[in-house]
Amino acid sequence: MLGQQLLRTMGASLAKSFRREVHSGRALRLTSTSDNALGRFIDRSAKPPRILITGGLGQLGTECAKLLRKNYGDENVILSDIIKPVDESLMNGPFIFADILDFKGLQKIVVNYRVDWLIHFSALLSAVGEQNVPLAVRINIEGLHNVIELAKQYNLRIFVPSTIGAFGPDSPRNPTPNVTVQRPRTIYGVSKVHAELLGEYYHHKFGLDFRCLRFPGVISSDPPGGGTTDYAVAVFHEGLLHKRYECYLEPHTRLPMMYIDDCLSALFQFLNAPCERLQRRVYNVTAMSFTPEELFAEIKKHLPELQVTYNPDSRQNIANTWPQVFDDSEARRDWGWQHEYDMEKLVVSMIQDVGENFIPKYQRLAEVSSYV
Ligand SMILES: NC(=O)c1ccc[n+]([C@@H]2O[C@H](COP(=O)([O-])OP(=O)(O)OC[C@H]3O[C@@H](n4cnc5c(N)ncnc54)[C@H](O)[C@@H]3O)[C@@H](O)[C@H]2O)c1
Repeated sequence: MLGQQLLRTMGASLAKSFRREVHSGRALRLTSTSDNALGRFIDRSAKPPRILITGGLGQLGTECAKLLRKNYGDENVILSDIIKPVDESLMNGPFIFADILDFKGLQKIVVNYRVDWLIHFSALLSAVGEQNVPLAVRINIEGLHNVIELAKQYNLRIFVPSTIGAFGPDSPRNPTPNVTVQRPRTIYGVSKVHAELLGEYYHHKFGLDFRCLRFPGVISSDPPGGGTTDYAVAVFHEGLLHKRYECYLEPHTRLPMMYIDDCLSALFQFLNAPCERLQRRVYNVTAMSFTPEELFAEIKKHLPELQVTYNPDSRQNIANTWPQVFDDSEARRDWGWQHEYDMEKLVVSMIQDVGENFIPKYQRLAEVSSYV
């Protein structure tokens, strides 16, 4: 029951403390063939960049650090966050405290570590942002002001992820092109449109090397941080543990998605793309689109006893305004983006990863908790 309760009520803080529990002792996961092939995008004759990752202990940051360290060296990738790291995060390279609301603190890090590139992951995600709008404004907007100004002052290349949540009910939903009406209805989406526009403005006005990818829902075995697409991760954890899952979205809610390995390949490839190939600074990227019903049917091929019920909550209203199918043809055309994982491959990989790395730990935690 412990794992189930944690996953059910997975707000940002719970997800994080749980992530700390299950992360410890876990092996490096990036094993995909694409990871090895990514080396071809690097100029080996050039000095490796020093990279600072903010919000690095979230769903994307830890895996991203592994990939970058593999390609640029452990010491050249500085992971940072405001939460306490597990041993694993400390073992593989530098980890430091960095609060994105503290401009002077960030300045000190950039100078002391001679940072060249900044990967800005800190954010409050869509569902969590709606629960605390003033905090989302501070983290997602004030924080962005700090890192972008810092990048300008110290001439850093800066990557800021955006999202399908940067679109809204007035946007075409199937497909959603790279440039179209946005007007999102969540503070998360509003802050991401702000980031996209400010980054483009700094690029045109000051020559800032701002790069931004709009990611769809990212699926990885790590418990996510409170987004609207989290069901596509939670079902693997709860489904494998309890053989049942209650979904907070309606069965026909179609959303764009991407497996973590593809998300990181896109990031890596885009970060290394020569400026002359970039016709714009903000690109849509995606791999697939599916509904909860389609995903669960695919999982049931491997786990026939899985029982799913539906109990839509406020996240349904958010999903109803988001793209169903994302048009990423411009990324494919300009810098050669290609995904590797479709839904079938994703399901196989998730079942294996969650089954091996998480379920035994949930079971151990449940045993311990039954004694207290
Ligand atoms: N995960 C997805 O599906 C997805 C999809 C599209 C875009 N993105 C974007 O990618 C980025 C990373 O997403 P994620 O899923 O890893 O998020 P996450 O919620 O898992 O992690 C965000 C991290 O930011 C940190 N943070 C919060 N306040 C901070 C502060 N004041 N200073 C420094 N760090 C702070 C948190 O501690 C957390 O570790 C976000 O910008 C998100 O908008 C994610």
